[in-house]
Amino acid sequence: MQIQQVGVIGAGTMGNGIAHVFARSGYSVVLCDVEQRFLERGLATITKNLEREVAKNKITTEEKASALKKIDPVTDRARLAECDFIIEAATEKFEVKTEIFRDLDRLARSGVILASNTSSISITKLAALTKRPEKVIGMHFFNPVPVMKLVEVIRGLATSQETFATVRELAVKLAKTPVEVNDAPGFVSNRVLMPLLNEAMYAVMEGVATAEAVDEVFKLGMAHPMGPLTLADFIGLDVCLDIMRVLQDGLGDPKYRPCPLLIRMVDAGWLGRKSGRGFYQY
Ligand code: CAA
Repeated sequence: MQIQQVGVIGAGTMGNGIAHVFARSGYSVVLCDVEQRFLERGLATITKNLEREVAKNKITTEEKASALKKIDPVTDRARLAECDFIIEAATEKFEVKTEIFRDLDRLARSGVILASNTSSISITKLAALTKRPEKVIGMHFFNPVPVMKLVEVIRGLATSQETFATVRELAVKLAKTPVEVNDAPGFVSNRVLMPLLNEAMYAVMEGVATAEAVDEVFKLGMAHPMGPLTLADFIGLDVCLDIMRVLQDGLGDPKYRPCPLLIRMVDAGWLGRKSGRGFYQY
């Protein structure tokens, strides 16, 4: 099946970035979220980021306009029945994704691949919720999606070679670099990244150094573009906590215990950049 129309569930940070790159690469996108205001916020972000690309001469004003025209924002999930490929980028909670995958399996045509942008939840488990486990796969983008080259392509236990090859090719068409990873908690990216961020939080909590000092160490000593606490704020502290819990539950090793400071900050609603306060004030 030729993929022309793509469905994206979730207009948040990752979903709007994914819609952006598909539309910029010429695909029609049905962007679905539960409330009109989430769609409006997502479209405003896409417009701002396309403008950034125009300012940097990466795309023309006409390409920006044509990308925006390709995105159809909807609150009615039934509209995804038209799509040739669907990617879910909703909240990182298994119960939320369970409901979505069951519904997508009912809605989508039988040959349609259902992908998840999950950053840590088992693709094998998501696939088992559907009657098409061979057509379920992980397609994990990185924030900011228009900029970051990587797509982790995650095979669930039942994912077919045909599904894998289609999604790998799709990533290349989006000018991304796919990397093949098998299904395991946190895949590769978050299995390695999140314990680093979590450990940086312990260093702050224990008074080893300030957030600023920890970040300087990583920026100047390891040439990271952002220090770990700036990065945690950028990803969202709630997302970091959800991922640490997936690692803790899935791998069972106490080294994945979420930092108590992270838990407290999420309880306080200090979620990082998106809420105006995290390790830094925005
Ligand atoms: N959309 C489009 N373009 C964007 C953009 C966006 N949202 N954000 C930045 N850019 C562009 C800028 O226009 C700029 O373009 P040029 O190179 O042509 O000048 C370029 O990206 C660099 O941006 P800036 O100059 O504004 O700022 P910077 O040099 O500080 O880079 C950054 C910003 C790209 C975000 C950089 O700090 C970075 O790479 N940070 C690390 C990001 C990272 O680690 N992401 C992964 C997070 S983990 C994840 O996403 C997965 C998960 O499961 C949790």
